[in-house]
Amino acid sequence: MPRPYSVEYRVSEDREAVSHAAAQHFVDCARAAVEARGKARIAISGGSTPRQTFQLLADPSHPYRAQMPWEKLEIYWVDERCVPPDNPDSNYSMTRENLLDRVPIPPEQIHRIQGELEPEEAAAKYESEIRGQFRLEGAQSPVFDLLLLGMGDDGHTASLFPHTEALNEMMRIAVANYVPQQKYNWRVTLTWPVIIEARELFFLIAGEDKADPLHRVLHGRYDPETLPSQLIQPRSGKLLMLLDRQAASLLPPPDENGIGKMEINR
Ligand code: 6PG
Repeated sequence: MPRPYSVEYRVSEDREAVSHAAAQHFVDCARAAVEARGKARIAISGGSTPRQTFQLLADPSHPYRAQMPWEKLEIYWVDERCVPPDNPDSNYSMTRENLLDRVPIPPEQIHRIQGELEPEEAAAKYESEIRGQFRLEGAQSPVFDLLLLGMGDDGHTASLFPHTEALNEMMRIAVANYVPQQKYNWRVTLTWPVIIEARELFFLIAGEDKADPLHRVLHGRYDPETLPSQLIQPRSGKLLMLLDRQAASLLPPPDENGIGKMEINR
């Protein structure tokens, strides 16, 4: 049953500006988590949009690197393509190249999805790693401090693609998902019941190709089989979206501060 939630969307001029906004949000949320709990458990998405944000976080010529408590971060992935870690299409490879190789996060605090394994084995190992790290008992769900999502032009998020099995998974933390419509048919993904538990959950979306799917996700009929991003109804009741002007072009215009709000109540 859909759960009501509020959306705050912050619109930046372009891809570079929204990447800066995302970098600052990362720092702010990570620092708050470390302040409150001594560490920041962060789950990141891959794809192309976060690349510039990761570069900005790692770049000492910008303020973010110096502000970030790197040694207190625990890095996880929201999803991964089932390919080896040195495959340039792996989310780990993109993150390593643009961030991990350039900042001082202790290697034991980087929790990679082992895409080189058989998909179900990779999912089971990842779930076991998360259970151990979060010290979960029984059916408890991990609560990430910060979770970054992207959205595809088909309305997918994580590796929750339209009309795929993972959309129906309610019990597992991570699953292998067969995605016939993608170049890499097998993916490992966090499940949506886990994703929505995150303390701070935000989408980072840029580009004119995302304007129509984003409008349908927020304003269209509730149809998560076709628009899986509609499953992301945060337990906190608050969803943040960091958008560039192109991606936001079909949404109600933001206020003079570039901020728009809407209540989703389906
Ligand atoms: C992946 C990502 C995926 C991504 C969207 C958007 O494995 O591709 O985790 O969920 O966030 O596909 O990708 P872009 O940022 O490249 O548009």
